[in-house]
Order: sequence, then structure tokens, then C-alpha cells
Amino acid sequence: MRILSGIQPSGRLHVGNYFGMMDPAIRLQDDGEAFYFIADYHSLTTVHSPQELRENVRNVAVDFLACGLDPAKATFFRQSDVPEVAELSWLLSTVTPMGLLERCHSYKDKTARGHEATHGLFAYPVLMAADILIYDSHIVPVGEDQKQHLEVTRDIALKFNNRFGDTLVIPKPKIREVNAKVPGLDGQKMSKSYNNTLEIFGDEKATRKKIMSIITDSTPVEEPKDPSASIIVDLYRLVASKEQVTTMENDFKNGGVGYGDFKKRLFSAYWEFFMPMRERREELLADPEHVDEILKQGALKARETAAKTMERVRKACGIQ
Ligand code: ADP
Ligand code: TRP
Repeated sequence: MRILSGIQPSGRLHVGNYFGMMDPAIRLQDDGEAFYFIADYHSLTTVHSPQELRENVRNVAVDFLACGLDPAKATFFRQSDVPEVAELSWLLSTVTPMGLLERCHSYKDKTARGHEATHGLFAYPVLMAADILIYDSHIVPVGEDQKQHLEVTRDIALKFNNRFGDTLVIPKPKIREVNAKVPGLDGQKMSKSYNNTLEIFGDEKATRKKIMSIITDSTPVEEPKDPSASIIVDLYRLVASKEQVTTMENDFKNGGVGYGDFKKRLFSAYWEFFMPMRERREELLADPEHVDEILKQGALKARETAAKTMERVRKACGIQ
């Protein structure tokens, strides 16, 4: 069974990325042959500084490895190191109905948020389909927001197979039900686009400040509070132990503890949860060549797999 997922290097990774995509992907690396990549071609639709793109790729590589991606188990590589994926994207685009892409939320959302309405942004799901199909992927673990793209991928693969005969493996999404939508500091979905993120490896002082500035209602300290309506509790559940969560829930219900105190507990639990990863990250930062080598080896392996699929695909459609 091949498991595949990708993440865009379009900014610093946050706690939503961790629980929605990275942690499930890391857990799955023991269950099959995992392929994980950094989607730099995709990021070009929104990141326009070459310097920033290079830095982001490096950061994502280091952060993902620090969080537990194990290159001995999973093949870890940069999307653009397998340029055949751009070729497959074109071939797939010739079977992709316009209507399928016109229905996609992400293009509408991104242009509404001010991103330039380019063909790349519009055709983004076709490249994503190519990412998945080129490695004959069976399982694709992602967050809820990518569900539509996986449906599009399946439709495109079926179209291709219908036109040219059985060539592509039809993948299955694995949408994380728990933590599929981690809330941001303002209660909306945590996302870099909303400027409401808690970075995985944020600076200590700045992160404490961010957590302390979570907006709460004005219930006085002594009054009971509703734990089911609090972002503080929602985030705490992700990073604290069961006992700690129960204590916080009881303190909410019983009253006598203020929001400031709850925020302090949230910061401590967050800081402690990511501590071992922070330490591993320091080691990786000190050895950039090691990280380069991991990506290089990953690319070699990914490219080998991609080459086999491309041979099949080219033959099927008459390019070869
Ligand atoms: P962002 O919204 O910050 O731009 P991306 O779209 O780059 O994040 O998401 C990368 C991965 O992380 C995707 O698989 C996505 O589903 C997951 N993800 C992003 N934000 C969240 C969140 N708030 N909760 C759960 N998963 C998330
Ligand atoms: N579109 C995904 C995101 O924004 C990233 C991505 C690109 C991806 N290609 C992929 C995810 C293939 C899974 C499989 O998060």
C-alpha cells in the first residue's frame, strides 16, 4: 500500500498543519510505503519571491523531519525534483472537464482573498492529481479542506482510464475526522491566510503573547464558564494530557479561575508538547547538508517510481 501526501512551503507550519496533516502522515509511515513531499510547484501560485520560496522549502523540510518524519521509513522529497509531474499534469488536463475545476472552492477562495487569478491557481487541482497519480498512491491523508481536491483527482483518473484504458490507480482519501479543523486564535479555522496561527516552532515570547491575546468573553473570574465554547480548551485538548484537560474543564465549570490562568496553562502545555521536536529541530538546523541529502535520496526514489508510471501513461495515450 502506498501512502502519499504533500504540503505547500508557503509559510511557517502551524499547529493546524501538525494535527491535520503532519501527525497523521507520520503515524501512517509505519503502515505502508509512504511518500511525502514539499509542494513547491504549487506554492508558486501564491509565493512570488524566489528567496522566500527557498527558505520556506528548507523550513518545511527541517520542521517535518523534526516532528518525526523518518526518512528510513518514508520517502521525503521536493515536488520539483520530479519534473515528470508537470508533464503528467498536462496530460491529465486534456481529460479534465472545465466544469470540474470551476466548481473547486480553493480557486474562488484564493482569488477572493486577493491572489491573482492565474491559470496556475485555476489548474492547481490538476497538478495535485498528477502528484497523487504519478506515484500510484492508494491512500492520501489530508485535512478536511483537501477533500474536494481528492474527489477531483479520482474523477480525473477515472476519465483517463475510461479514455485510454486501465492505467492509473484510483486513490482513496483519508480525511482525519478528529482534529480535521483545528481552530485558530480567533476561532476561525487555523490558517496562515487568516493570520490566526500558532506556529509549531514559534519564538517563545511571541507565542506566549499570542496565546495571552486570545479574545474571551467577559465572564468574571469567580463565575462558571462554558468549556465547550472555548478555543482555549479546544487547543488545550490537542497538547495536554487527559487529566490536565479534565482539570481545566472542571475549573471552567466550577468558576474561580480566570481566562488568563487558562491561557498560561495552554502555553505551558503547548511548549512542553513540542519540546522534543524543538530539540530535534536544533540538531537538524546545525546540519543542513544532512537535510539536503535526505531530500536528494528521496527524490531519486520518487523519480524512479514516477518514471515507471510515466512510461505506462505515455504509452496509453500515444505519446510513446
Ligand atoms: P493553510 O490553511 O495555513 O494555508 P495549508 O492549506 O497549507 O494550510 O494546509 C496544509 C495541510 O494542513 C493540509 O493537509 C490541510 O488540510 C492541513 N490543515 C491546514 N490547516 C488546518 C487546520 N486548521 N486544521 C486541520 N488541518 C489543517
Ligand atoms: N494542496 C495541498 C495543500 O494545500 C498540498 C498538496 C499538493 C497535496 N499536492 C498534494 C496534498 C498531493 C496531498 C496530495 O495542503
